[in-house]
Amino acid sequence: MSDRVAGDETSVLVASDGAAVAIPERLQNRVAIVTGGGHGLGRAYATRLASEGAHVVIAELDRDAGESVAAELRERGLTASAYGTDITDAAALETMVSSVVEAHGRIDILVNNAAMFSRVPMSRSLFDAIEPDEWDRMMSVNLKGTWLACRAVVPEMRKRGYGKIINISSGTAFKGMTTRIHYVTSKAGILGYTKVLARELGADGITVNCVAPGSTLSEEAPDAATLAFRKDATGDRAIPRVQVADDLVGAVAFFASADSDFITGQTLVVDGGSYMH
Ligand SMILES: NC(=O)c1ccc[n+]([C@@H]2O[C@H](COP(=O)([O-])OP(=O)(O)OC[C@H]3O[C@@H](n4cnc5c(N)ncnc54)[C@H](O)[C@@H]3O)[C@@H](O)[C@H]2O)c1
Repeated sequence: MSDRVAGDETSVLVASDGAAVAIPERLQNRVAIVTGGGHGLGRAYATRLASEGAHVVIAELDRDAGESVAAELRERGLTASAYGTDITDAAALETMVSSVVEAHGRIDILVNNAAMFSRVPMSRSLFDAIEPDEWDRMMSVNLKGTWLACRAVVPEMRKRGYGKIINISSGTAFKGMTTRIHYVTSKAGILGYTKVLARELGADGITVNCVAPGSTLSEEAPDAATLAFRKDATGDRAIPRVQVADDLVGAVAFFASADSDFITGQTLVVDGGSYMH
């Protein structure tokens, strides 16, 4: 997490370790929706996009958390708003999109971050101990919710002939991981989804890319077991340390900015060099 302390053509932020970091303001006049931006990694993406000049809309199941992040950003002199939105609810997504367009006139960026993961927890069980209802719920949030969010937002992007969609997969889709086959399957689905949508929307000036995070310490108050679990992931990394949210925000901001306008259908694995391809 970072605080803006000064700004001109670049913002100067103070990162969580206290270091000053110069951030370019590539997203001036852009409107960005971050699903699930009330907690964890989504909150970090929202903060970074706002720091680069975007108006950030947090579309979040946990309405209070979304509003609290938006208020925090506004207190820092950034611009943000929040909507209580369930991404599995097509009507709720359309209402949110209409409100955003009415208030801001456009939508340029969509970060499909919301998922069943930690805040909305999943069971961690072997493949034959996962309940069918939970399998369906996982696909409904992580895959169908991503598709529904795109369906709601893309017409607005098409109107302007410009848009940036950033999907969130997971390093586990490349490496496999026991005890969460439903989650990993959903995140593997996001890889194919990204490629098809990129091909369907390229002519509309809309890029569709994907970020696949490695195991990241995203929990707000991690207990000892969570810390140990995140530390375990450092073993096979070229950069052998715990991954934090700040390690991911640059990749998302890059795909959200005009710097990536000729890049589409790509997945960037951000995991400290654990999976290499
Ligand atoms: N943290 C990691 O190690 C890691 C690794 C790889 C990928 N990811 C992915 O990154 C994303 C964020 O992960 P995180 O660690 O911040 O998880 P998290 O559980 O803390 O955050 C997910 C957010 O999505 C929201 N959400 C859940 N269901 C929703 C719905 N139906 N509608 C709207 N919002 C909903 C939650 O309220 C929460 O704010 C997820 O897509 C996750 O799969 C995380």
